[in-house]
Formats: sequence, structure tokens, C-alpha cells
Amino acid sequence: MSVFKIQGGRPLSGSVRVQGAKNSVLPILAATLLSEGVCVLHNCPRLTDVDHTLDILRHLGCRVAREGETVTVDASAPTGWAVPDSLMREMRSSVVFLGPILGRMGQAELTYPGGCELGPRPIDLHLMALRALGAEIEERNGRLFCKGKLTGGDITLSLASVGATENAMLAAVMAEGTTTITNAAREPEIVDLQNFLQALGAKIRGAGSSVIVIEGGKPLHGGEHTVLADRIVAATYLSAVAAAGGEGEVTGVDWRQLSTVTAVLAEAGCQVESGAQSVRIRVLGRLRSVRPIRTAPYPGFPTDAQAVVMAALCKAEGATVFAENMFDSRYRHVDELARMGADIRVEGKVAVVCGVPCLFGARVRAADLRGGAALALAGLGAEGETILSGLHHICRGYSDLAGDLRALGAEIVREEEIVTES
Ligand code: EPZ
Repeated sequence: MSVFKIQGGRPLSGSVRVQGAKNSVLPILAATLLSEGVCVLHNCPRLTDVDHTLDILRHLGCRVAREGETVTVDASAPTGWAVPDSLMREMRSSVVFLGPILGRMGQAELTYPGGCELGPRPIDLHLMALRALGAEIEERNGRLFCKGKLTGGDITLSLASVGATENAMLAAVMAEGTTTITNAAREPEIVDLQNFLQALGAKIRGAGSSVIVIEGGKPLHGGEHTVLADRIVAATYLSAVAAAGGEGEVTGVDWRQLSTVTAVLAEAGCQVESGAQSVRIRVLGRLRSVRPIRTAPYPGFPTDAQAVVMAALCKAEGATVFAENMFDSRYRHVDELARMGADIRVEGKVAVVCGVPCLFGARVRAADLRGGAALALAGLGAEGETILSGLHHICRGYSDLAGDLRALGAEIVREEEIVTES
């Protein structure tokens, strides 16, 4: 079994370039299915979620090639419209294929994505949006059977769901006529998806605001695109410096896309300097607690940064209240942090982090992607050695967490550990 071995208690010093965004490249790869030509994507991070998405594209008859950080997809002659359960189970966000498969093939079949480590992950808004464009969707034996010629329509989302917005956009570019998506998610990844679709010739505007308008129904040609930098990975690395002390820099990212996170780190006492495509952070002493942190849709505080910022505040002076408003089960890192000496109390969606003078290295296990990253960060700020397992969660969203943290001066290595029958 692979584990991370982390020697904590030493301040960091270094600089790291941020990888391409997982939550941007996944919908963009699904969108390549809409192109009748060849798509070339640069800055594609090496993630298991990306590998699974490429497997789905190959299963649907696309030709896929990767060379370093560049992925090429030829969707000129797709042959399939059904995604097998084996591929759906690898990644629940594969539901974003529903819109593009239906739009390109006129029918689609995929497994109803189950919940995940974060709790139930309903897709009622995805289905509502596609039905508003004329899709006939039947749910039978855990599978979704969809068909119909899509026509433009008005979609109003009851909440600004990222995935539902993306599915609606991808279906609407194939739907004859005008589609308006109201209460659309405003994440930077939505803007990146719009930029990619425009490169393919789609008539789409408004991404980044709550209203997106698409003039659909025309075939899309091939195109080239560079994937946006991952703002959550950037937040992770800034939080690593906050957790361990010292100084550090993340490059290749637009500071404005993580300003709610840098504002919290500055309030905690970090010195934060934002450049055009970089953020520098310096820790000048023991951090202090901050005003309550409430997760919210963009541009609010990102739920994906909750765990890593919590890890940074475990040793802060005073108590910080977190309210996790986006997912039902996103505190699974708390018990593992407690094994390291953290003092955190969870009541429903609220977690109260009472700062302790120090953390101690321990054997801990990742239960989900961002919680796993948070445990690595806590290990950097702990006295002694931390052994972190469950790395398959981390590889979903970080192409090289250990390597990137080493670039910031961390002592962290990946090792194979022989598991003895206990
Ligand atoms: C995306 O998930 C991200 N994943 C998540 O990142 C991120 O945490 C989330 O957006 C919020 O920012 C990808 O982009 C691949 P939502 P998504 O639909 O689209 C409810 C990570 O760590 N909802 O905006 O699934 C839902 O239950 C991952 O990188 C419905 O009720 O998020 C949740 O409470 C984790 N019905 C809320 O909306 C629906 O049909 C927000 O979910 C859809 C969602």
C-alpha cells in the first residue's frame, strides 16, 4: 500500500506552479464529445479522475492521446451512447456526460451516479434542465435512459449547482434555438468551459454571471484550449505554508479566484501578497482564529478549501467556527486531525476548531480528496512523523501533492508500505 511519510515541525520555503484545474478539465473533456473535429487541450493535469474520463471518451468511440500535459481528443465519429456501470462507478461527476452524449447522439444511457464520500449527491437539477430542453428521461433499475431531439428553452436552477449548470450548457449548445440558464453557477470553471465551447464555435455568453444564454443547434468544429489553473490546489498550498510556517509562493494562478481563502489566511495573521499570476504568503508567528467561515457557491468561500484551511487553523490561538453549507458529510478529516491532537467539535454542519499549542505526527487515513490533502498539511505542522494512507483519494485531484509540497520545502515522500496481517 502506498503511503505518504511526512516529517513535520519545520517551516517551509519555496515556490510551486499550480496544475490545471480538475473541476475545469472534467467538463471540458466531456464537451469534446460535441466537436466534429479534433480538440487539443493543454495544461491537463495527470489525475485519476482525468484518466477515468478519457476511458469514457474511448468507450464512446473517440480517439484519445496524451503527450505530457497535452491531451488530444478526436470525436469526429463517436459510436456509443451508453456508459457502463464500471466506468460510472469510478467517478460520480461522470454525470456531466449526460448532456453531451444526448446532444451529440440523440440518446444516452448511464448509471444513476451514487453518493460519494461527501454524502448524497442528487442530480435532480441535471435531469430537470435536460427535460426543459425536450429530453425524455426514464430512470430504471439504477440506470438513466435518455432520448430526444433537444430544442432551446428556459432553465431556472433552484440552486446554483456547478454540475447542473455544466450539463445544461453542454446540452444547450446542441439544442436548436435559444436556451437561457438562470441562477447558473458562477465558478471560474464555468467561464473556462464557456471559453472552450466558444473556441469550438458555440454561440454562448454570460458564464461567470447568474444568466447564461446559448444559441444552439449548429455543429461544432475542433479547437485548442489551455485549461485554467486549479484555484483549490493553490489554496491547498498556501494553507500548507500557513500550517507549517515559513514562506512560499504559488504561481500560474489568478489571485482573484481564491481571494476568499487568502482573506481568511491574512485575517489569521499571514502576510499575503498577490501578483498578476502568483500569490506569496509568509507566516510571522502563531496564527490566530478568524471570524466564522461559511462555505458557499462562488464567489463565496469554497467548500473544497474548508478542510485545508481547517488544517491550517488547528494550532491558531483561539477558536474558529466553520459552517459547511454545501455537503452533508464533509468533516471526515476531523477525527483523523483529532488523532494528531487537534481539538475540534462537530455539531451537524458546524465545526468548532479550538487552537492547540501543537500537533503530533500520527498514522492517519484519507477518507476523501480534500480531507486527505488537509491531513498532509496537518502533518507538515505537527511534531514528528505522520504516515498518511488512502492516497487513491488524493490522486483524484492532485497530480503530485508530495512533489509540489517538496517544491515548497516540505519533507514528504511516497513509499510502499508492506501491510502485515494484524
Ligand atoms: C462540483 O461538484 C465540484 N466537482 C465539487 O468539487 C465542488 O465541491 C462543488 O461543485 C461545489 O463547488 C466538480 O466540479 C467535478 P454542485 P457538483 O452541483 O457539481 C446539491 C472536489 O473536491 N445538488 O454545485 O456535484 C448538492 O447536493 C469536488 O473537487 C442538488 O441538490 O456540486 C450540493 O449540496 C467535491 N441537486 C449542492 O447542490 C442537483 O441536481 C452543490 O452541488 C445537483 C446538486
